[in-house]
Amino acid sequence: MSYEKRIALHAEGLSLSRLVLGAWRLLSGPEKPDAASVADLINGAIDLGMTSFDHADIYGDYGVEEVFGAGLKHWGGKREQIELITKCDIILKSDVRPANRIKHYDTSAAHIEASVDRSLKNLHTDYIDVLLIHRPDPLMDADETARGLESVVTAGKVRAVGVSNFTPSQFDLLASRLPFPLVTNQIEVSVIHTAALFDGSLDHAQRLRYSPMIWSPLGGGSLFTGDGAQERRVRGALKVAADAAGVVDIAAIAIAWLLRHPARPIPVLGSLKRERLALMAAALDIELERQQWFEILKASTGEDVP
Ligand SMILES: NC(=O)c1ccc[n+]([C@@H]2O[C@H](COP(=O)([O-])OP(=O)(O)OC[C@H]3O[C@@H](n4cnc5c(N)ncnc54)[C@H](OP(=O)(O)O)[C@@H]3O)[C@@H](O)[C@H]2O)c1
Repeated sequence: MSYEKRIALHAEGLSLSRLVLGAWRLLSGPEKPDAASVADLINGAIDLGMTSFDHADIYGDYGVEEVFGAGLKHWGGKREQIELITKCDIILKSDVRPANRIKHYDTSAAHIEASVDRSLKNLHTDYIDVLLIHRPDPLMDADETARGLESVVTAGKVRAVGVSNFTPSQFDLLASRLPFPLVTNQIEVSVIHTAALFDGSLDHAQRLRYSPMIWSPLGGGSLFTGDGAQERRVRGALKVAADAAGVVDIAAIAIAWLLRHPARPIPVLGSLKRERLALMAAALDIELERQQWFEILKASTGEDVP
């Protein structure tokens, strides 16, 4: 059995590729990638079926969207071939934003509208497929935030909206003020971080039938670099499953472990290395059986389920 290559975020919403490419680490290397190499990255991802790209206004100290946008301009494909996700509301203390005295959140309508306009300009596009509120804001006035989100959708600048790192109750509050559904909650889940399996987040996604997007699906790389007991156990369990599936890369099993969940999670992959992405794309052809899935869970938690 293979997973579908595309997935609807929500019954009423648009679809994304089954695996999304995250752009957070685009400026993490020693050199700033030029437009041609970003265009290569986009083409390489599309070849692997990954047409959806995850951004945030703040990635790379407010620099990633612009570098990616230059690559998009160079790329020369059709805008409709890809999907762009971006986020707003985190405000960083940064040299490029000298007015920001402290890291904070801003879910005001004015900030949402201004941030979307900046993202459109940086990404060289006239619409964003999905806009996410990046983190829950303790000062969020749900009526006002909903007004901001409605205005960017009505203006045709954004096709659909969602949230990230929201609890089910924060999600429900914002959703209660909107005339259209929130199409996703982007949350952290991995073989290393399993809390969302038990804290109601994935139950909520199933109940409302939206596909949660999953950030740091390999624990941000700690799956490979961590040398604690948990990471060692998990690597061992993933290797057993990788051998059984005939794949070389335990990352593919870690992704397949997420795909197996009935909430239909959408992993947002963080590596930008083509060979690693190709190995992880193999996850779409791996359906872990129930006991394998629980063996990996046990390796993560260190104990049998009760
Ligand atoms: N909504 C939020 O709050 C939030 C928070 C964090 C991230 N995100 C999104 O989620 C995306 C993914 O997060 P992430 O980068 O932490 O994801 P990840 O896939 O868990 O981690 C990627 C890291 O793992 C490393 N890695 C080491 N060995 C690997 C192997 N064999 N195969 C694949 N990767 C390996 C990668 O290194 P190399 O780069 O050297 O390949 C990279 O540094 C981000 O790009 C961003 O779009 C969202």
